[in-house]
Amino acid sequence: MDAHEIRNAYLDYQERLGHVRIDRAPLIPRGDGSTLFTGSGMQALLPYLLGEDHPAGTRLTDSQPCVRAQDIEDVGDNRHTTFFEMLGNWSLGDYFKAEQIPAFLSFLVDEVGIDPNRLYVTAFIGDEAAGIPRDDEAARIWQAAFAERGIEAGIVEMGSQADGDARGVNPGERIFFYDGSENWWSRGGSLEATPIGDPCGPDSEVFYDFGPENHAPSYGRARPASDRGQFMELGNQVFMQYRRVEDGSFVELERRNVDFGGGLERIAAAAIHSPDVFRISLLRPIVEQIEQLSGKSYEEHTLSMRIIADHLRGATFLAVDGVVPSNKEQGYVMRRLVRRAIREALILGISENFFAELVPTIADLYVDDYPEVRERRDEVVAVLVKEERSFRRTLKGGLKALAAYKGATLTGADVFLLSDTHGFPREL
Ligand code: ALA
Repeated sequence: MDAHEIRNAYLDYQERLGHVRIDRAPLIPRGDGSTLFTGSGMQALLPYLLGEDHPAGTRLTDSQPCVRAQDIEDVGDNRHTTFFEMLGNWSLGDYFKAEQIPAFLSFLVDEVGIDPNRLYVTAFIGDEAAGIPRDDEAARIWQAAFAERGIEAGIVEMGSQADGDARGVNPGERIFFYDGSENWWSRGGSLEATPIGDPCGPDSEVFYDFGPENHAPSYGRARPASDRGQFMELGNQVFMQYRRVEDGSFVELERRNVDFGGGLERIAAAAIHSPDVFRISLLRPIVEQIEQLSGKSYEEHTLSMRIIADHLRGATFLAVDGVVPSNKEQGYVMRRLVRRAIREALILGISENFFAELVPTIADLYVDDYPEVRERRDEVVAVLVKEERSFRRTLKGGLKALAAYKGATLTGADVFLLSDTHGFPREL
C-alpha cells in the first residue's frame, strides 16, 4: 500500500468501526492563540475531549495535516518533517483501551500488511507523587493482542530514556514501561508540564523495528522508545482519563477518552520497510524532481533534498490554508521555510527559479484527497512563485555586496551584515 492508499484504508477502517469522518482543522488554529499551528489532530477537539458533546457523536476520525515548526533547523534526518499528516481516531467517553489497542494493531497488520514481529510498544510506568498507577491494563491488553498472533510479549520496566539507552532490549521483550517524560500525553508534553485545565493521561506508543543494521551506537543501546535509528514511532494512543486542576494535581475525567494519532508518512515508510520517509509515495516524487532540476543524486545530497522537499511541502500546505509569507507569526515561519528551501537549492546549484515547477508537483500529490488543494492550486503556486522571485532579488543584492569584498576573508561582522541585511545564506 502506498501512503494515499493507507490514508484511505485507515479512514474506511475507522468508519467500519463506527467512527464518523470529520473535516480536518485548518493549519492555523481557529480561536486558539496558544500555538501558531495545528500540530496534532486533537487540538481542534479540545472542548469535546473536556466533555462537550460533539455534533458528530462519540466516535470520530480524520487525517489532519500538521505543522510542527519548533524544530525547523533539525529537519534533515530520515523521519522528522515540519509538515506531516496525522491519522486520528477518537473515543469521546465511548470505547477505551480494550478496543483501541487491538484495533490499531489489526489496522497495521491486517490492513497495511506490516509484520507484527516488527512491532514494539510502550506504556506508562506510573507516578507515585501524582497518584497515578502503572498502566498494567494496557500491558495486559497488548500481551493478549500479540498472543492472538502467536507472539509472546515480555514486559519490562525501563524507567527514563537514559535508563533505556543503558539497558537496551533482550530477546522476547516487547512491552516497555516508561516514565512521565515518555509515556504521558498532554499538550505540554511530559507529566510535569501538563497545563492546568488540560485533559491528559498515560499513553502507549507503537514502534516499528527496521533491524539492527539501522542502529547507530552513538544513540545508546537500540530500544523502541528512542525513536532513532532502528526503531521508529508509528503512532500514539493517549488514554485521556485525567485533567490537571489548579493545585497541580490530577483528577479523573468524568468521561474517559481515547486520542489516537498515527504518522501517515511513517506508517507508509514501515509498509515499504524504508527507514527513510522521503522514499514514500508522498515525498519521493518531490525528491525525484529535485534530482532532475539539479542534475544531482539524492544519495549524495540527501540533506539538502530532504530540506527542500519538506519545507516546500509545508509552505504549500500553509498557502492552501491562506497563509502568505510575511515578517510575523505564521507568515514568518512560511518565509523561513521558503528561504531555507531556496538556500539549499543554491547549494545544489539550482540557480534559476524552480517553484513554478516543483509546487504543482507537490499540490498534485494531494488534489484527489484534499479538494481545497485542487481549488486553490493556482493561487498557491502564484503566492510561492512571487516569494521566490522576491527572495532571489534580495540574494542578488547580497551577491553584489559580496563581490565588493573581492575575495578578502570575511569577518563575523561581514557575514552578519550579508546574511541579516541581504538575506544571503551564511553557508554560501
Ligand atoms: N495527540 C497525540 C499525539 O500528538 C495522539 O501524539
